[in-house]
Amino acid sequence: MALSRRHLLGLDGVPKEDIEQILDTATSFREVLERPIKKVPTLQGKTIVNLFFESSTRTRISFELAERRLSADVVNFSADVSSVLKGETLKDTVRNLEAMKIDMVVIRHAAAGAADFLGKVVQANVINAGDGAHEHPTQALLDMYTIREKFGTLEGIHVCIVGDISHSRVARSNIYGLKTMGANVSVCGPRTLIPRFIEPLGVKVYYDLDEAIRDADLLNVLRIQLERQGSALFPTLREYHQTFGITRERLDRSGKTVTILHPGPINRDVELSGDVADSEHSLIIQQVLNGVAVRMAILYLLGTGR
Ligand code: CP
Repeated sequence: MALSRRHLLGLDGVPKEDIEQILDTATSFREVLERPIKKVPTLQGKTIVNLFFESSTRTRISFELAERRLSADVVNFSADVSSVLKGETLKDTVRNLEAMKIDMVVIRHAAAGAADFLGKVVQANVINAGDGAHEHPTQALLDMYTIREKFGTLEGIHVCIVGDISHSRVARSNIYGLKTMGANVSVCGPRTLIPRFIEPLGVKVYYDLDEAIRDADLLNVLRIQLERQGSALFPTLREYHQTFGITRERLDRSGKTVTILHPGPINRDVELSGDVADSEHSLIIQQVLNGVAVRMAILYLLGTGR
């Protein structure tokens, strides 16, 4: 069954059938990643451009690996060595790339709406790899894949997203996707980092982390995004860690097993203590592996129109 859209710009409004299709297809590609030869000819002859206007480790490498494992031709674009430095606009940059007969564009940009804008001006399929504080749909899909792999379902699983919700595109995409899939979604953090739009989305808000841990099956812990915060929104990193940091002691005190996700990069001993990040509670490395399979699924479904 084909996806209901040509681009993946966000998860707001994406139907359950599309999300299920992506997660189910990713299961087949996870199997490919276990083979001695981790490559299939699915996108042979297709050309994909990775347009990264903002720094990235996981997403950029994960997309590139996914594209190469599908046998696509891959072109990597970095804004810091391009004609963007000479004042070229995003539209002109991509129009020129399109003239070279590209089929798909993966874009990360600091401006919210950059991927939507591209989707309106190019023929190629556009995948949003993170736009400002707006959406990061492939991260949310790999998070959902990892949760489904662990619990067997997303329906009724209580996922609490902890930390800097206001500046997080990961939180936004997770909320849209998880709600569509029937999960029970909450957020927890300091009042200064919880946006007003959250409760109308059917998301419960916790300001007490111990209460949130008591109720949740899984914590998706977010990075404190100091680079996006215009002013000090909490007193010190040390105090943030004491009040909202996930520590071994806090988890032990809860007397229950809670699974931990984190999209990365981690600020160790700020939002998450190093021992918990590396513990049996953590699926962080599993998320990274699943990310390649999920991105292969998205590229395949959009790139072949299936
Ligand atoms: N999770 C995530 O988007 O990580 P990068 O910024 O390293 O791509």
